[in-house]
Amino acid sequence: MAMDLGSKSQQLLSKIATNDKHGENSPYFDGWKAYDRNPFHPTNNPQGVIQMGLAENQLSFDLIEEWIKNNPKASICTPEGVHQFRNIANFQDYHGLQEFRNAMAKFMSKVRGDKVRFDPDRILMSGGATGANELIMFCLADPGDAFMIPTPFYPGFVRDLCWRTGVQLIPVHCDSSNNFKITRKALEVAYKKAKEDNIKVKGLIITNPSNPLGTTLDKDTLKSLVSFINDKNIHLVCDEIYAATVFNSPNYVSVAEVMQEVEHCKRDLIHIVYSLSKDMGFPGFRVGIVYSFNDEVVSCGRKMSSFGLVSSQTQHMLASMLSDERFVTKFLSENSRRLAKRHEKFAKGLEEVNITRFPSNAGLFCWMNLKSLLKEPTFEDELKLWHVIIHEVKLNVSPGSSFNCSEPGWFRVCFANMDDDTVDIALNRIRAFVGKETKKHVGIKRWQPNLRLSFSSRRLDESVLSPHSPIPTSPLVGAT
Ligand SMILES: Cc1ncc(COP(=O)(O)O)c(C=O)c1O
Repeated sequence: MAMDLGSKSQQLLSKIATNDKHGENSPYFDGWKAYDRNPFHPTNNPQGVIQMGLAENQLSFDLIEEWIKNNPKASICTPEGVHQFRNIANFQDYHGLQEFRNAMAKFMSKVRGDKVRFDPDRILMSGGATGANELIMFCLADPGDAFMIPTPFYPGFVRDLCWRTGVQLIPVHCDSSNNFKITRKALEVAYKKAKEDNIKVKGLIITNPSNPLGTTLDKDTLKSLVSFINDKNIHLVCDEIYAATVFNSPNYVSVAEVMQEVEHCKRDLIHIVYSLSKDMGFPGFRVGIVYSFNDEVVSCGRKMSSFGLVSSQTQHMLASMLSDERFVTKFLSENSRRLAKRHEKFAKGLEEVNITRFPSNAGLFCWMNLKSLLKEPTFEDELKLWHVIIHEVKLNVSPGSSFNCSEPGWFRVCFANMDDDTVDIALNRIRAFVGKETKKHVGIKRWQPNLRLSFSSRRLDESVLSPHSPIPTSPLVGAT
């Protein structure tokens, strides 16, 4: 018998199941669908879409693989490790393996330049930073409460922070006129507006290093954020998922370091979200961490860990890998060196065709400025340009509007989820595209910054603009 789909069956479901607050209706995720329909492959599908919307770190897998080969005991599925199989397979305590928490605490310190110590007993497990961000929201806010968030921000936050918790986000608008700096003034404006709208602001959430800007926050900015939340008596959640992706100076400064230097800092208002998805390149392992300085949050968050435990097999292996200091030291420096090299290659390629980008020192992406290619400085034209890039240039990049950027023309483009050859192909496509556009403008001998695209001649494929296009796989599964 055919299933009764549509509004009738929807009435049988919950409000969460039937609302669209998962944030999937965004060009960010539509880009994923376009890639899924026609994925690039160097030999099988060389004309396909290249995935540059995926903030994955695939540059250092060889180092991990070498360690795994040299440490067969770390796995419980090898002759060397099988004697541990029963213990580990049976383990399900929501505190996590002690040796995993110890190794994780040490690793988190190392990534932050050993300037801060982390207490293993404050480490809570969760399914990736996705689960960790939701967990901390469940601990800090009730449905209808709000968290302030500087723009531009990671599109997945709408799902992670809001969908199931009922929390709302209040954007703190930052723009390129002062390098997207998070100013006290911008925070005060957003806070005041929320108060006037009778919205209860429970906290501020930041991402450091920033996704999508690829920049690190300086000490003064972090101090001003800490004093802001202290003054207002609201929480500060710092998503530090990209902490070890810093590849250029200045060095990384964690909020954990700064709070030691702020007088009368209310420590129990501060919480760190972390994960191994970016720094080690393990998004599939789903290792997420909440590190809270608040005892009650630790206690209640620990119980909530039951909903998103990290597999004990993964904990066991990582306990061994992350406590291998020689390996960790080598991995962190080599990974950062490779990221710097890849970033330089990609940035140079963009410079050659006069495409500017926001200067960055971290992350797995560039924040590319294509304002000069917009016919009009509107989000509508940004979307049209994005459409051309995805359909004609065949690159899945993500438009700034999906990051809630307050000015049109910015695009995030990821560079660490592919090999060098694919980067070259992507750069060639960009070069050809810009060259073609240049030629269209009679009299223009070389590319000029005020080049405009003529969209009128372009065919728009509505299936990509529509969030409802049928696709068997959910792009949310791989949102990154
Ligand atoms: C800022 C930020 N937070 C959280 C996540 C989710 O990461 P995870 O794979 O650990 O769930 C991402 C992924 O892109 C991210 O960029």
